[in-house]
Amino acid sequence: MTGALELEDPLRWDRAVPPSAVVIFGANGDLTKRKLLPALYRLAYERRLPAGFAVVGISRTAMSDDQFREKMRESVQRFLEDSPFDADLWRDFALGLHYVSGDIADDGLYKAIAAKLGEVESQRGTAGNALFYLSIQPSQYEETVEGLGRAGLNVSRNGDGWRRIIIEKPFGHDRASAKELNSRVQRVFDERSVYRIDHYLGKETVQNILAFRFGNGIFEPLWNRRYVNHVQITAAESIGVEGRGAYYQEAGALRDMIQNHLLQVMGTISMEPPVAYESDEVRDERAKLLRSIHVMKPDEVLTHAVKGQYGPAKIGGADVPGFRQEPGVAPEAQTDTYAAVRLTVDNWRWAGVPFYIRTGKRMPKRVTDIAIQFNHAPLAVFGAETGKQWPNLLVLRIQPEEGISLRFYSKLPGAGMKLRPVTMDFNYGTSFGTRTPTAYETLLLDALVGDATLYTRQDMVEASWEVVQPVLDVWSETKFDLPNYAAGTWGPAASDEMLAGQGHVWRVP
Ligand code: BG6
Repeated sequence: MTGALELEDPLRWDRAVPPSAVVIFGANGDLTKRKLLPALYRLAYERRLPAGFAVVGISRTAMSDDQFREKMRESVQRFLEDSPFDADLWRDFALGLHYVSGDIADDGLYKAIAAKLGEVESQRGTAGNALFYLSIQPSQYEETVEGLGRAGLNVSRNGDGWRRIIIEKPFGHDRASAKELNSRVQRVFDERSVYRIDHYLGKETVQNILAFRFGNGIFEPLWNRRYVNHVQITAAESIGVEGRGAYYQEAGALRDMIQNHLLQVMGTISMEPPVAYESDEVRDERAKLLRSIHVMKPDEVLTHAVKGQYGPAKIGGADVPGFRQEPGVAPEAQTDTYAAVRLTVDNWRWAGVPFYIRTGKRMPKRVTDIAIQFNHAPLAVFGAETGKQWPNLLVLRIQPEEGISLRFYSKLPGAGMKLRPVTMDFNYGTSFGTRTPTAYETLLLDALVGDATLYTRQDMVEASWEVVQPVLDVWSETKFDLPNYAAGTWGPAASDEMLAGQGHVWRVP
């Protein structure tokens, strides 16, 4: 083992999960099948889960425990991705899977859950600890939390176990609904027991931003307005809305990606160093940064935000429908399938430095990265072009080719002093050669051990809604001429113009 791993383990991975039950609302849904059960199985495979562990699936569909186990086996085998399926391990794991069917609006469901938890506690020894996971329609969050509260499920029967709740995004539809949801959840669960999930924070490469910044001495001194010219955060997806047209039509790219994932990434890139790698310390700094983002005035939205929607195109010889032709989408939908914003941070470190964030569906490729562009060299000693054309650029690649690269000038071999930009590269795969846990493995493990560092807090969620709300307001009152970019391209021309106005250009990632 290297020194780095020895340092890392006590903080993140080597913590023991106490006996507990995970109660999943929405057990018949896509997230449970694709992400949650494969992640829990994988934690069992890694011997991260205790003997006293159980899962209780909840949904409307009537099913026996055995039928649920069989369904979950199929899903785990199908969605396990890069891990082997061990039939013996599955047999043991499946014994801990239970199921309760019922309607979220019906108090009888919560009584049945309480009875099942009692049963599971005596059979499996889960010690009264339960983690509720809301993987259901956001419109049902309040009802479910209140149902849990009425049945007394927010506290353990004997008062000696813990009760926690994980809430999936979207956390609110706008600033007002997020606040309302927060206050209703907090009437039932203490804020310390509420885990608002943002799976981007669970990504290894996003966590590595903190390691890169605060585990090294040489980058942080440059990490400010004196040296950084601007920052670009890109989250491009080549897929369209994949059968989620009805949800996506109401959400749009700004809500779906920027309000949560990308503002959290921006917070991680630009926050102050925490005094310790502890849940409150890290979240205090991220929250403070989010509160420092300049909130746009309505007239600023016109020049600091761009809305896009993809139209039909031919990609690789195949016809790709436009957003408005997707199932479940209205023919006149004004939805943003692309959004770009120019943000600034009103603090001493970052005043005046633009943070450009863009995200879109049906872009030319799937890539998420952060590019930090440094200022030009102050004097072009080697000719006019050097130091001007290709300023130093640090790229943190979140996915799919996880790594970090730094661009700088180098002398071309041979006579004279000709310079050319080159890159110095770190690649996760080649450097570590180990399997990377999925975000859901990391986050579920964290919630089970009671570590909320990578979860968002009420103040963070509300601060990020503050940032996007003016854009949502102006966009909802404006009729846009859409679609304005063809599927398979890098978004609308207006986005390039927004940067050009500042003398900047979007990189091609
Ligand atoms: C989800 C969004 O939160 O994140 C999806 O709702 C999006 O629209 C997804 O596709 C992207 O996540 P990832 O991990 O694939 O980058």
